[in-house]
Amino acid sequence: MAHTKNDDSSFWRRADDSLIRYSGGGSFIRRIIERAEGVYLYDADGKPILDFTSGQEHELNPRSFKPRAGFVAPAASRQPGPPFLGNALAPRGGPCVQVEQYTSSGSRQSPASLNGWRIQRMRSPHRKIVYRQVRDSLSNSWHGVTFGSASMTFQTTRKGYGPAAAGSLVLPAPNGYRSPFRNPDGTHDWKKELDYGFSLIDAQSVGSLAAVIVEPILSSGGVIVLPPGYLRRLKEHCEARDMLLIVDEAQTGVGRTGKNFAFEHDGVVPDILTLSKTLGAGLPLSAVITSNKIEEAVHSKGFSFFTTHVSDPLPAAVGLRVLEVLERDNLAARAEALGQRFRAFLLGLQAQYECIGDVRGMGLMQGMEIVRDRTTKEPDEVLATALADRMLELGLSANVLRIPGTGSSFRMAPPLTITQDELDSGLAIIAEAFRSTKGANKALAVGTRD
Ligand SMILES: Cc1ncc(COP(=O)(O)O)c(C=O)c1O
Repeated sequence: MAHTKNDDSSFWRRADDSLIRYSGGGSFIRRIIERAEGVYLYDADGKPILDFTSGQEHELNPRSFKPRAGFVAPAASRQPGPPFLGNALAPRGGPCVQVEQYTSSGSRQSPASLNGWRIQRMRSPHRKIVYRQVRDSLSNSWHGVTFGSASMTFQTTRKGYGPAAAGSLVLPAPNGYRSPFRNPDGTHDWKKELDYGFSLIDAQSVGSLAAVIVEPILSSGGVIVLPPGYLRRLKEHCEARDMLLIVDEAQTGVGRTGKNFAFEHDGVVPDILTLSKTLGAGLPLSAVITSNKIEEAVHSKGFSFFTTHVSDPLPAAVGLRVLEVLERDNLAARAEALGQRFRAFLLGLQAQYECIGDVRGMGLMQGMEIVRDRTTKEPDEVLATALADRMLELGLSANVLRIPGTGSSFRMAPPLTITQDELDSGLAIIAEAFRSTKGANKALAVGTRD
């Protein structure tokens, strides 16, 4: 292949020599991204790359956002300046969304998960937290890498860092593609799976359960969508045990799934909600939202969460702007409509190519799993990576989950501001990648299409 500026050996030597390699044994993707505009990234050669990966809005990025003069200076942690995101979130998220504490540090959402975790622990300090887990390596939760949030994360990345926080229990992820819990007609019996999970929790519990934390779509775990009704039943299980329900909407919140928040699909209001990614539009911003009742309860016990950037006004202002644009441009409704188009395309592709074992997602978060064959469902990480590499060559960043154990699944989350034409050009690249990648283009034999 011709030498390009992306191959700049001095750049990559410096990167390899000076950066801690943090991606689970994988290497950096050899593409230098210099800028973003609209839904495109531009590499060192000026080549446009359509972004189906970041799940963030470049157009709403703070670089195109002008805060009013004198606005940016953070005060002391105890002096939160306006604006208050919570007021803006309240009418969008339902009755629980009243009190918020936004945090912005390098690791955006981890503080939010951690903060939610601290709130629930303080409410009932001796209680355990129930995490969602995975019996197979494809269906994992991800809440972050700080100690608290990593303790709630059940992926292969859990291994090798010593004991997690005490009291971390697990529930099975409802992976309809792989779960052994089946109805007589072969469909996924997620109710039995969840009830069984709780029977094991009850057996392990010493009677002090505190909370369940859950992603509406286990995104890094392979885009596992909670089945309709699942959150409601989960809430019932929580209520029966006086547990809190924490919903981590780092990826699904702020319009992505076709509603402002994914929990709305089930008509369930969480006790604690955590947000980031889309909310910050590229800036490190996360928010923890809870009811006045819970806030009062923990405040009276002396709840503290000091971080250097807690309640910073600049990221909060960006968050407010994002919420304004969400409403002004009907981004949730657009995500729903474009998501249906995206999904119909992927299902069409699955009808053609044997290697697409499963298609799943909601709104503008769609996934597909690449397998060796549909009967064994054996994951094919090598082919998935080859497909992702081919897409990048063709000008599309469509993330294959480069986390060991989930590398056979694509997780695609374009900016919510994407137009239909831009979406279609990304889909055309995906189609071309399947046509032109060795091993992928094994079409289904006529008569075997399901
Ligand atoms: C659902 C969810 N929660 C928490 C996190 C952690 O966020 P951060 O990487 O900003 O710490 C992520 C990151 O991808 C996530 O997807």
